[in-house]
This record gives sequence, C-alpha cells and structure tokens, in this order.
Amino acid sequence: MERLKIKEILVSKEREKDVVAKGWVRTKRGSKNVNFIAMNDGSTIHNLQVVANVENFDEELLKNITTGASLAVTGKLADSQGSGQAVELIAGKIELLGKADPEKFPMQPKRHTLEFLRENAHLRFRTNTFGAIFRVRHAMAFAIHKYFNDKGFYYMHTPIITASDAEGAGQMFRVSTLDPKTPPLTEEGNIDFSKDFFGRATNLTVSGQLEGELGATALGEIYTFGPTFRAENSNTTRHLSEFWMIEPEMAFYDLTDNMDLAEDFLKSLIRYALDNCMDDLQFLANRLVQEEKNKPQDQRSMELIEKLRFVVENDFVRCTYTEAIEILKNSKYYKTNKFEFPVEWGIDLQSEHERYLVEKHFKRPVILVDYPKDIKAFYMKLNDDNKTVRAMDVLFPQIGEIIGGSQREEDYEKLLGRMQEMNIPADEMWWYLDTRRFGTVPHSGFGLGFERFVQFVTGMGNIRDVIPFPRAPKNAEF
Ligand code: 4AD
Ligand code: MG
Repeated sequence: MERLKIKEILVSKEREKDVVAKGWVRTKRGSKNVNFIAMNDGSTIHNLQVVANVENFDEELLKNITTGASLAVTGKLADSQGSGQAVELIAGKIELLGKADPEKFPMQPKRHTLEFLRENAHLRFRTNTFGAIFRVRHAMAFAIHKYFNDKGFYYMHTPIITASDAEGAGQMFRVSTLDPKTPPLTEEGNIDFSKDFFGRATNLTVSGQLEGELGATALGEIYTFGPTFRAENSNTTRHLSEFWMIEPEMAFYDLTDNMDLAEDFLKSLIRYALDNCMDDLQFLANRLVQEEKNKPQDQRSMELIEKLRFVVENDFVRCTYTEAIEILKNSKYYKTNKFEFPVEWGIDLQSEHERYLVEKHFKRPVILVDYPKDIKAFYMKLNDDNKTVRAMDVLFPQIGEIIGGSQREEDYEKLLGRMQEMNIPADEMWWYLDTRRFGTVPHSGFGLGFERFVQFVTGMGNIRDVIPFPRAPKNAEF
C-alpha cells in the first residue's frame, strides 16, 4: 500500500482506498471512546489528525502512543468533523514503530524556550518552530542555486582547507596533523610546518573568494556556496564560527553592476520564500508576534510577512560611507549619547550604527559604498581619492550587515602595493596575482551570509537557531 506524505494527504480527495501515513506523534487527546492523535512527518507544518476508536485497538498500544512516539497508520480518509483540518485519517491499523517514554522524552507538548531547545538541538527538529525554520532554510538554498543557474552562473566548489587568509583578518582555525605535544621545531624554535601534512601551514577557509576569482576570470560568472570558518571570539546573535556563505564573482562587473545583482538576488530569494513557504512563514510570523508581546511597542519588529514584502517592493538606498558618518553624527541618537561605540570617519561601523541607518533613518535596506581602505580587505579596488575603496555592504533591518562585497583591484601594481602595505605575503599568493598579470579584467563579487539571511526570512533573533548544529565559541556539542 502506498505511503503518502502528510502534505499530500491533507489535500487528498481519496475517500475509498486505504492510505498509509507515517510520522511522529505531536499530541494525543480524547475520550473514553475515541482518541485524536496529531501526527507530523516533517513534510509540512500541519499535522494529520488520526482518529482511533478505542474499542478497535489494544489498550497497551494506545497507552504507548505518546508525544514523540513514531507510528505507521493505515486507514481511510474522511472529511473532518473538527474545525482545524479538512481531512482526517480514520485508523484501521496502527503500528507502533518506536515508543517515546513520556518520563524521559524532553520535547513535551508545551512551549519550550529557545535556550532549552538549543541544549536539545538533536531533538529540536521535532518542534513546529524548527521544522518551519529548516524547511525555509532548504527552500532558500534551493532558490539560490536556481537563481544563479537561471542566470548562467556556474557553481564552483572552492577548497575548505587553504594556506591563504582571504580576508587578511587572521581569524583562522589551523588544520594540522602535527602532534601538539611534540611538534617539530625550526632552528628559531618555531613550529616547523614544512613537516606538517601539506608541507606548510594550512587553515579552514574564511572565504572562497580568492579561488572564486580564478574561476570568474575564465568562466565569466561563478558562485560558491559552502561552509566558511572564523575563529573570532564573537558571542553575538549574528556570529557563528562555522557558517555558510554564497559568493558570486563576476568578470566585467563594476560596483554598480555588483549592487544591482545583490539587490535583485536578495529580492528574488525573498519572493521565492513568499511564493513557496507561506505556511511556514505564517507560523513563524505568529510565533514572532507571541514572542514580542511583552516588548514595548517601539521595540517590536515589523510583522514578518509585511517586512518581507516591504523589502521586495522597495528600492534599496545607496549611500556612501562618508555620507553615512555625517548622518550618524547629525542624529539625535549620537547627540544624546545613545550609541555605545564611537562614530568617526575611518572607524568601522558597528551593528548599532548599521541598524540605526536602516531602521531609523532610511527605513529600508541600505547599500553602503566607498569605505575607508584601512578597514577593508586588500583586494578591494582603490578609488581615485586614494582614501576609499570600492566596497559595498548591504545592511538589513534587525541584522545589520548581510552582504559584504566589492569591485576587485584588477591593476597588478596597485594590488601588489596594497598587499605590501597590509603585510599580505605576496610571494605565497603568486597564483592570485597571476590573474592580474595575464588578461586582467574589471571584476566584482560579494558574499552573502546564509544564516544571517535565513534569520531575516524566518524572523529568528539568534543565528544559532537557523543552522542545525551551531558552532560558536565553547560550543560544538552534537
Ligand atoms: O564581509 P565578509 O567578511 O566578506 C567576505 O568574506 C568576502 N570574501 C565576500 C566576497 O566579497 N566574496 O563576509 C560576508 C558575509 C557578511 O556580510 C555576513 O553576512 C557573513 O558573511 N558573515 C558571517 N555570518 C555568520 N557568522 C560570522 N562570523 C560571519 N562573518 C561574516
Ligand atoms: Mg564584511
């Protein structure tokens, strides 16, 4: 007999033939005569109501149908008498696949805190909230591949183990097979990485961009979508030590083309979510309203679906870093000392500044360009003022920076100069510099933090709740 997913069953018109549903019990309620079992199989946020007439089943079996138990139920579909659903399954046969001792199973049918669920990340998939989040996460990953494929970009797999520090920030996890107790030493007493597995010091990558540029300057337009790693000690709601990044890289694109692509890309993904994930988004929107009930009115965020539509329907603001500093300095927030961090030309913006610009000043997503060269990576194209680079950060409400990118320096001499100024070992990066020596072209790209984006779409406040198993400082359980 054919097993149907609950998503299919809920819209099925079949009333004659037996169907089989399999899944996990969310709740059971009922009377002396009849039990109502809400069952979920992950195919949708909605549960299937299974109706079991008590007299037809073994008492022991019914007793073991508790929250978390797994079942295979065979029976006929019927128009539902209850209000919550159109169809229900009248159980003919129930097979108990796995019990879940109610004394021990942590996921009880009540509201658990997100903190509790993080400690039980192995089981949190079984909740409505995390089911919805991970279905949306999947849909967004699919939409990303579809977007680029439709545009003729190639998916390029860049290495996870590398010897270079693409961002030059030195926040890398070392990859080594040397014995940490007795590593080989050089004459100067340093660790001798020439004896290490790769014959040199290697790390987990912080970005696939540098290799992406090698692909783009031949294939034209590529994108990467893979895990990246940063050993920064940031315990915030927007940082992970292991996160997924999407990095398109395009030959013959200048900064304006890059911004146009980033804006169209983000809008198109959100449109895909609105068109394909409405049940889950609606659930997450209601969840957010509940969560924010106790917050003062002015600290509540915009209703989730309204916010998503708003981003799709409005142009992003484009503004220079220098203008942004002026806006911040002239703000009431600044004048009444409401910012925790200083505002000064040359200093990197903090998320409080980014969010002020987006949420209070412009009231829509913002693309900031032309940042001071000293706070950005070595590969960004220098502007004629010699002070700023053709960088762009896309800033979103609640999140702050969601995309970082730039036009790349395509001039060999200028790039080499920047590397020397910033102590980037140019000799080790000969392969990168070769793109500028042979047939160099203007090119651009950006990186979208996948989890920050999923946070935005799902309205989740903490980045650790949008990746199945978060990696953060002092946190690598599961
Ligand atoms: O701004 P970032 O550091 O840019 C790069 O890595 C460039 N190589 C991208 C490129 O031009 N190809 O990182 C890009 C994005 C950020 O805007 C942010 O969304 C996300 O990656 N990100 C993080 N997300 C979660 N946890 C962290 N620790 C993150 N660091 C950056
Ligand atoms: Mg950045």
